[in-house]
Amino acid sequence: MRGVFRSLRYLRGYWKPAFGAFISLIIVNFANLAAPQLLRILIDSGITPLNMQVVLQVAGLLVVVALVRGLFFFLQGYWSEVASQGVAFDLRNQIFERLQHLSFSYHDRSQTGNLMTRLTSDVDITRNFVGSGLIQLLSGIILLIGTVTILLRMNPLLTGLFLLSVPAMGLIFAVAVRKFMPLARTVQEKLSALNAVLQENLAGIRVVKAFAREPYELSRFERQNQDYLAHNITLMKLFATFFPLVFFIANLALTAVIWVGGGQVIGGRMTLGELVAFIGYQGYLLLPVFMLGSIGTMMSWAEASSRRIFEVLDAESEVKEAPNAYPLPPVQGRVTFENVTFRYAGADQDALQSVSFEAQPNQTVAIMGRTGSGKSSIINLIPRFYDVREGAVKIDGIDVREVTLDSLRSQIGMVLQETTLFTGTIRENIAYGRPDASMEEIIAAARAAQAHEFISEMPDGYETLIGERGVGLSGGQRQRIAIARALILNPRILIMDDSTSSVDAETEYKIQQALENLARERTTFVIAQRISTVRRADKILLIDNGRLVAEGTHAELLECCELYVDILASQFGAREEVNAAVEEALK
Ligand SMILES: Nc1ncnc2c1ncn2[C@@H]1O[C@H](COP(=O)(O)OP(=O)(O)OP(=O)(O)O)[C@@H](O)[C@H]1O
Ligand SMILES: [Mg+2]
Repeated sequence: MRGVFRSLRYLRGYWKPAFGAFISLIIVNFANLAAPQLLRILIDSGITPLNMQVVLQVAGLLVVVALVRGLFFFLQGYWSEVASQGVAFDLRNQIFERLQHLSFSYHDRSQTGNLMTRLTSDVDITRNFVGSGLIQLLSGIILLIGTVTILLRMNPLLTGLFLLSVPAMGLIFAVAVRKFMPLARTVQEKLSALNAVLQENLAGIRVVKAFAREPYELSRFERQNQDYLAHNITLMKLFATFFPLVFFIANLALTAVIWVGGGQVIGGRMTLGELVAFIGYQGYLLLPVFMLGSIGTMMSWAEASSRRIFEVLDAESEVKEAPNAYPLPPVQGRVTFENVTFRYAGADQDALQSVSFEAQPNQTVAIMGRTGSGKSSIINLIPRFYDVREGAVKIDGIDVREVTLDSLRSQIGMVLQETTLFTGTIRENIAYGRPDASMEEIIAAARAAQAHEFISEMPDGYETLIGERGVGLSGGQRQRIAIARALILNPRILIMDDSTSSVDAETEYKIQQALENLARERTTFVIAQRISTVRRADKILLIDNGRLVAEGTHAELLECCELYVDILASQFGAREEVNAAVEEALK
């Protein structure tokens, strides 16, 4: 039960309501324990001797007990809810924070739906235990001890008789809990899988529709849903079998008590009031046994869930700041790869092998290569999204592993291969990396990215709201906003992965022009999509199969490198242009 205990520690932050709930709980239980005693007095000193005075007094006391019980029952429920909601609040925040800091490889490996289940359902199940479960557990224990003490003082023989049944009930619950725990974990995993299907489907709903795969998706979802249902039913079946069994044993014990106790009352060894009180207490004895049983199951469920939570909280980021990391001072922009070998976690092949090159400040470096050759992998290493296996990536001669991630990444502007925008206004999206940017700066960045024109034409201009993932904008518009978002950082190092692929040739030309001005002041890496980009680059890195096979200018590579000509021809379909260029170079 490590997970449960660990989540209970979160109660420390809410010790006041937790303590209040605990005190209220004790009062409620005392009130509960007092009631059968009052009944005994009512029967033995009021009803049997026909004393109306006592009857009225006891009735009055019963009302007071009921009032006290009601009040503190409310307080207990309220305070334990306050405490447990607080714990859930903290857990959610911590998971979210952890998820923000986990490295790319963690997110490569995890499914979004699964992580979302941990943040929602698992937190809720844990909260449920921390709130009502724990209270019930404590309540059960107090009631059990209190009742057994009173019963033993009232009638040891009958108590002994009844207690005989407890080990049997305990055994049943022990078995139930043992079976319950792995099942509960499976149920949560099934729910995760279901959410993963849902999340992936919603994210890709346009693809689903384009391919008319709704029936397939439906059956995929139904299968997962069915699986989840089946496991839930198994779990509930277990639950449903154990309770009647316990009830049955309890009733046997009750029968024994009535039989023996009835004999004692008739024989004059016990008063009627005592027997009534005894039977009342016996109910209390059952209550904790039941409570402990249902807590057992609740606890195993919470255990399964809290383990899933702590798996995330304990996950180590593969990209970790060194303990003595220092902030990277403002850089010139010299980027060096020294014999870099890199492999993705779980891959059985290196994505990059002994890659070495140097980009001088203010140079524009184009990276070329067939698809899957390792272009994106190279640029992912510069902001240290992943760590190299061998060799080093250096900026201005400083190994990126020596400095803080913040200081490193804030000096690198990135336009990624997949454009992600967030729900909000265009202005907010452009200023994402610099929320304090002034309107002038935002417009300047948009102009440079050739986005100002289309933004101004929108009815709300920069205040236009865009939906999730940029819904409401065309692919090219989205890309240009992403470029503006990178430019506003005014980074010394700018990285663009395929970022002009979905704009038309004219817009691309304009972006190129603007970038050329901008590029003079920064080191730019660009994964080339257009021949014009390549031509203008100061240096081209030609990657094949994870290796750097050639390096040089357009003219140099045309002359020396067949692969380069091949790729130009196939990627840009510019056979004639290439041929002309080759001839020109050969002249
Ligand atoms: N997250 C990942 N986990 C495991 N392997 C990966 C991951 N990303 C890429 N790879 C693999 O690493 C190799 C290089 O991929 P990379 O994304 O660098 O190619 P690329 O040159 O950018 O291709 P493209 O032009 O299609 O974008 C590929 O074989 C790819 O399958
Ligand atoms: Mg790529």
